Amino acid sequence: MKNEEIIGLLKEKTGFVSGAEIADTLGVTRTAVWKRINLFRKKGYTIDGSPAKGYRLIESPDLSIEEIRNSLSGHVSVMGKKIIFLETVGSTNTSAMELAGKWCEEGTVVIADAQTGGKGRLGRKWLSPPGKNIYMSIVLRPEISPRDATVLTLMSAVSCATAIKKCSSIPVTIKWPNDLMVSDMKLGGILTEIKADMDRISHAVVGIGININLDLTDMPGEIGSFATSIKIEQKRGSAEAQNGYDFSRTLVAVEILKEMDRWYSILLTTGKKPIADEWMLLSSTIGRAVKVTVGDAVFTGIAGSIDEEGMLMLELPDNSVKKISSGDVTILR
Ligand code: BTN
Repeated sequence: MKNEEIIGLLKEKTGFVSGAEIADTLGVTRTAVWKRINLFRKKGYTIDGSPAKGYRLIESPDLSIEEIRNSLSGHVSVMGKKIIFLETVGSTNTSAMELAGKWCEEGTVVIADAQTGGKGRLGRKWLSPPGKNIYMSIVLRPEISPRDATVLTLMSAVSCATAIKKCSSIPVTIKWPNDLMVSDMKLGGILTEIKADMDRISHAVVGIGININLDLTDMPGEIGSFATSIKIEQKRGSAEAQNGYDFSRTLVAVEILKEMDRWYSILLTTGKKPIADEWMLLSSTIGRAVKVTVGDAVFTGIAGSIDEEGMLMLELPDNSVKKISSGDVTILR
């Protein structure tokens, strides 16, 4: 008996299912059923139990690694073949980098319920409270040069935006280089780290942070003025959902990993162009008047396009074009 079969069975019924019926259907003893039920209770499932009536599923956790594994099985060739779940970790990126350094399968995913030292781009902190968001990092070993590593960030941004659009009605866009946005509010971000020598990547870790069920009350200080979550946006977009409702982190994680698998295979077989093209379609930066801060320097102009390396082609007022490899973009109008 696979562990998850019990949950599958309980999910099919709205009322109680007797221990004897479960045992018969799955071909195990009633004691084995009872043990598995308790295992699932420890994993966060609320299961009502009565000696006379049997068992009834009341609530499933919104992040279930079993469900992620089951949903991916047979649908992916690289991403999520191995998933490591950590309740609380410093940073999933740091853990995944350590793991990759010791060697692990390509596509290994480290996912955590909470991070105590979540890292953002440019040395910033990433808000990572428990029970709310997706924090996951994926180990990749593409045979590309370090110069091309930005394409992994573009690919991940495209995958995340597509996945979120598939499982919600949120009009998510990408702000250069890696911000997942809803209008001018940040919904998520991607942090890619690599270990490389002069001309070859030994491994890369793509870290994905998406705000799923974060409420405004969970955001300290100024964060609420520029960050949002799927829950907040669902509430905004729907007249009925007055208070917003909790969204399944499992669902979003599965879709992201499926999309990552699809786009990674496109990258390896076809190259960078389809990814850059799709990134342009999903972008909210291209064609806009922007201010780009690069360290102490500030440039204003029109965001013309990105090249296949992911560099931003900024059209300056004197009609020259400045290639920018990293910086912070503010959309001016
Ligand atoms: C950004 O600044 O926009 C990038 C944010 C990336 C956050 C994610 S959460 C999972 C992974 N672990 C980290 O420490 N950071 C990334």
